[in-house]
Amino acid sequence: MRFSDLPPPREVPPESKARPTRETTREPTREKRDSPLPAESRTGPPELSEQPPAVDEAHHEHLGPAATTTFRLRHLFNPARGWFRRTERGINKFLSHHIFPGIPGIALPYSRALERDLTVSEADIGLEHLDPGLTGLKVLLASDMHAGPFLAPDALERTFARLMTLEPDLILLAGDFATIRLEEVEPTLPAYELLDAPLGVFGVLGNHDHYTGRSEELVSILETTGIQFLQNRSVLLEQDGGRILLAGVDDLLCGEALLDEALRGRHSGMPSLLLSHNPDVFPEAVNRDVSLVLAGHTHGGQWRLPGLPVLVRMSRYRLDEGRYRAGGSQLVVSRGLGATGFPIRIGCPPEAVLLTLRPSQTP
Ligand SMILES: [Fe+2]
Repeated sequence: MRFSDLPPPREVPPESKARPTRETTREPTREKRDSPLPAESRTGPPELSEQPPAVDEAHHEHLGPAATTTFRLRHLFNPARGWFRRTERGINKFLSHHIFPGIPGIALPYSRALERDLTVSEADIGLEHLDPGLTGLKVLLASDMHAGPFLAPDALERTFARLMTLEPDLILLAGDFATIRLEEVEPTLPAYELLDAPLGVFGVLGNHDHYTGRSEELVSILETTGIQFLQNRSVLLEQDGGRILLAGVDDLLCGEALLDEALRGRHSGMPSLLLSHNPDVFPEAVNRDVSLVLAGHTHGGQWRLPGLPVLVRMSRYRLDEGRYRAGGSQLVVSRGLGATGFPIRIGCPPEAVLLTLRPSQTP
């Protein structure tokens, strides 16, 4: 279904970053500061040379009901240690580092595809013990931006401008800001400066962010845009007397995901959100009664043929995209915005997810 009633992107002045319309216990938004990257290292993919498609419409989908998962393993394709994944990852890193950046105009095809095929997937999520003050809270989940050779920074800027017209209350960025190098991210900082929500903009790192080998610097430069990183820690969000814990963990494969540390400070009976790049933290989150996990990483397979299972398998537990449930917990996996490996998605358009929280007796 075509979704054409999104208004045109609005201008977001820098001072609106600290829009004080809701009471919240989040940390004060950091003031913009100069990037710690030296000027000579600020290189990035080429800019779009032609005007991209209009930005006043996007595709719109409703996520279906949550599928019950039993965490059935994929034995043949271990995303962490399997020979196939190791080989694919090695080739991917080599191409992204040494070959793709030298191809003129390589950013153009995927940047156009992102703007043309952007999909906003929506769902109402029922959470037990959700306070009435938080009813209707709109959470925007964006993931896997993958700055680098395939993405023109201004295409990401326009994409975020479109998403801001959804007026989310809370924005969550589930990692993979980079593809392989820290310097790729610098040109995309103006895009992140557009993100603004009353309860804040929060992020965690993904495996590609760790591939840069400079994840702490990556966090530092992204924090200059106002993003607050939840690397194994949590914040308490409050709105109209309702409180919810928002926790985040480091990447499961390349970082150190410490769930217990992340969830420290949670009060019994309080609903909790967990932001994780990798959806495979879900079994452990279920064991800890996390209300809702929000993840990316899989790209939904990135290449899908109709009626066939996912070809590129990034989740060991078959948590490829969409909604899942187990015990009293739920999971939402976004296909993400960017691309890796090759600058193409087939049958698997780029996606941001807009969730509306509702109180529920049963999740
Ligand atoms: Fe990714």
